Amino acid sequence: YRNLRVALLGGGSVGAQVARLLLEQKDELASRVGAGLELIGIAVRDVDAERTVDLPRELFTTDAESLILGADVVIELIGGIEPARSYILLAINSGADVVTANKALLAAHGPELFEAADKVGAQLNYEAAVAGAIPIVRPLRDSLAGDQVNRILGIVNGTTNFILDRMDTEGSSLEEALAVATELGYAEADPTADIGGYDAAQKAALLASLAFHTTVPLESVYREGITKVTAQQIESARKAGFVIKLLAICERLVHPETGVEGVSARVYPAFVHRSHPLASVHGANNAVFVEAEAAGSLMFYGAGAGGVQTASAVLGDLVSLARRHVVGGPGFAASNHADLPVFEIGSVTTRY
Ligand code: NDP
Ligand code: HSE
Repeated sequence: YRNLRVALLGGGSVGAQVARLLLEQKDELASRVGAGLELIGIAVRDVDAERTVDLPRELFTTDAESLILGADVVIELIGGIEPARSYILLAINSGADVVTANKALLAAHGPELFEAADKVGAQLNYEAAVAGAIPIVRPLRDSLAGDQVNRILGIVNGTTNFILDRMDTEGSSLEEALAVATELGYAEADPTADIGGYDAAQKAALLASLAFHTTVPLESVYREGITKVTAQQIESARKAGFVIKLLAICERLVHPETGVEGVSARVYPAFVHRSHPLASVHGANNAVFVEAEAAGSLMFYGAGAGGVQTASAVLGDLVSLARRHVVGGPGFAASNHADLPVFEIGSVTTRY
């Protein structure tokens, strides 16, 4: 099979890690896909900017459009609305599949992009757009597609969870904790998106749309950020046995006045009892609870932000769509290519 040409748009916190893993795990990924994944270039604003990861200089370009036109798969990790939207449309209309982590774009222009992809039979994967490394988009889209989801409740922004956690456990100020979160690559390019609750609201719109099979516009998501949360409130909450968390809540409900059945999505700082599992979500981790009619309660937990963690979800999307390119490829059974020895060593480790 011929190699699949992969164009990367963005070489920042997430993009640089995706590029590194693509290069370092080239052979292993090729075995999983049944064809090589060739990174043909990385589009950035400034080819001379210092990078968090040492990557071959010749891969960088400022000519994103030419890169897109030569690709089978385009990974968009620029963020924001434009030029990300135009680049994704160009990719789709020139026959490429797309992977993106851009929740701001999908929450604002998702229907347009999904329609464009459907029209030409292109795939548009976006697992990394919600809750970083945690698989939640595909579980909702695929695994739970035969069930009825009634409610989603979770922490879906790593930066604000990191900040609230530091304010609670170390007495940090919001500004100090935000500076650390930015340094660690968790925050958005404009961190107002995080602390103002916009990022969580975008994710809530995506989750609600997926879960309830209806378009939930961003404008209809109620939103409050964490900027008004004070050290005093956190202290009072602690004394009463609670912790303050920025929650996203999406649910089916009956309108209290009209009696009409519908859905709602909302994001706001809430008191969570210390005995609740959400109270134990520390640092930049996220957790999402899903309540479904037949499946019951499900819990998804893990890294909600961070370059390398998010790169895992991006690469999962890439491998998943690349496998579909390889018609007559290795298939599922033959993809167990690693041929590792299996040890029969009993219960050596008894404590986890
Ligand atoms: P960064 O700000 O770290 O990186 C953005 C990259 O895009 C930079 O390399 C920048 O180039 C490049 N870029 C910006 N504008 C343009 C342009 N006009 N043309 C070409 N390249 C451009 O962002 P992140 O890596 O943190 O985030 C990327 C995406 O992933 C966003 O959509 C974000 O919301 C999402 N995401 C991020 C997570 C995280 O933990 N950071 C987690 C989950 C999703 P240059 O380097 O030259 O400035
Ligand atoms: N800024 C985002 C967060 C990145 O902190 O959750 C992950 O989407």
